[in-house]
Amino acid sequence: MAGQLHNMADDSNQPNILVVDDDSEIRYSLNRVLASRGYRVSAAGSGEEGIEMVRKSPPDVVFLDIRMGGMSGLETLQHMRGVNNKLPIILMTAFGTAQTAIEAMKFGAFDYIMKPFDPERVLRLTENALKAVEDLRRASDIQPKLKSEDWKEGIVGSSAAMQEVFKIIGQVAASDVTVMITGESGTGKELIARCICQHSHRARGPMVAVNCAAIPENLIESELFGHEKGSFTGATAQRIGRFEQCDGGTIFLDEIGDMTLPTQTKILRVLQEGEIQRVGGTGTIKVDVRVIAATNKDLEKLVADKTFREDLYYRLNVVRVRVPPLRDRGSDIPEIVEFTLQKLEKNRKSRVRRVAPEAMEVLTRHRWPGNVRELENVIYRSAVVAQGDTILIRDLPPEMGQAIATAAGAEPKAGVGDRAGPAGTATPAPEESVKAESSAASGALASVLDTLFETLSREAPGKVLKRLETEVTNRALARANGDVARAAEVLGISKAVLKKRLEESVDSRG
Ligand SMILES: Nc1ncnc2c1ncn2[C@@H]1O[C@H](COP(=O)(O)OP(=O)(O)OP(=O)(O)O)[C@@H](O)[C@H]1O
Ligand SMILES: [Mg+2]
Repeated sequence: MAGQLHNMADDSNQPNILVVDDDSEIRYSLNRVLASRGYRVSAAGSGEEGIEMVRKSPPDVVFLDIRMGGMSGLETLQHMRGVNNKLPIILMTAFGTAQTAIEAMKFGAFDYIMKPFDPERVLRLTENALKAVEDLRRASDIQPKLKSEDWKEGIVGSSAAMQEVFKIIGQVAASDVTVMITGESGTGKELIARCICQHSHRARGPMVAVNCAAIPENLIESELFGHEKGSFTGATAQRIGRFEQCDGGTIFLDEIGDMTLPTQTKILRVLQEGEIQRVGGTGTIKVDVRVIAATNKDLEKLVADKTFREDLYYRLNVVRVRVPPLRDRGSDIPEIVEFTLQKLEKNRKSRVRRVAPEAMEVLTRHRWPGNVRELENVIYRSAVVAQGDTILIRDLPPEMGQAIATAAGAEPKAGVGDRAGPAGTATPAPEESVKAESSAASGALASVLDTLFETLSREAPGKVLKRLETEVTNRALARANGDVARAAEVLGISKAVLKKRLEESVDSRG
């Protein structure tokens, strides 16, 4: 039923117009009008099919029927704009009410045309749409880039990947379009959801986050939709559900990939109907809620495995924000570190201002399976352990040992004044720690260190730092007569870290 309706050998430079209508007569008549001007025309008999065609090879203009069996025109439009938000879509309807016209334009339609068509109007609209695309194309070259400082919500990242994410946030924030955010755990999905919400016209409305994985199956309905007093054992008072709580605002459905199938069905119903029914209640209640969903699961796979409803998937996956893992955007690490330290300082939780270049090198080399959350935690912990106002390699958690071992050569060098870090990551070391380290490396101490270094590199090649650490730790403990607290104080680490190091040194000997 669909496909290329008109295809001549010499017209590949002609604009391509896609017609989506479930009525074959409309497809036929539009094709005739459009082809008469030399346009290439393709056609689809359903919204789903149309979306697929837009994905595969984007047309220049779309004519889209509002009322179709299966996916409605407005829904199809949202999906198509999710694929390509510059695509001009002209909606067609047989019923010209103010409401549909307004709705159509609010959803971002380029224009709106009534059936039966006047062929001249069809052609004029097509020309206008093509011209608009051309204008947009020219304007996009001078589109301002969003800077990370613009995001007062506290989200940073100047990597190309995050800039793309920010752009999408900007594009979708103002509309009510449903957004699906996917990415590994700890990549910032919730932060992005809040960001979208704060930039929307619903910013003053409530935002309610629901962790779909955390609510027990038997309570989910009451949790989401509320219940009337006495509707089940234990329902001692009326309860307002989450959807009702965030009427006029945004609901953030988190971990949607972990929802059970019955829950999915219930969520789908409220999304389709825009109204809820309290458990034990009689009437329905209209709710005006914008939905943002997130998951770290591979939803496409869940759909293929039939553990996630395909219709719900289409409902939610209108615009997709894919948040890249931190390891794919290493250039963001120094910024996130700086940002985290500023947050700590603001809350007066730490005096630490910077990270020594060698430590930053370790941080940028780490794989970060826990993404930004893991990085934040490492900074929190290291800031607690750090002595001055700078995080050094030794302040990083012992479990980053692998990376520390590879970067180890750098830190002793830093002591004799060679502080050049990798370009872009170098943070100036504070006066005090440079002084302390250079005096430590001077005179008698320097020669002791030389001997020590030579001995250890002969005895324990590849493990010099670890051995030195073990030796010094044991010495400190012996001198403190086994008093862990005192030894930790002398060493400048926490008791917990000291204990951990002792355990590790026992392990590595065993
Ligand atoms: N780009 C960023 N800039 C600054 N902080 C960030 C950024 N991304 C994430 N964070 C911080 O990292 C932490 C984790 O972010 P968030 O909770 O949004 O991740 P998530 O993807 O929802 O994780 P999960 O899948 O585990 O729920 C938060 O403290 C957040 O503030
Ligand atoms: Mg989350």
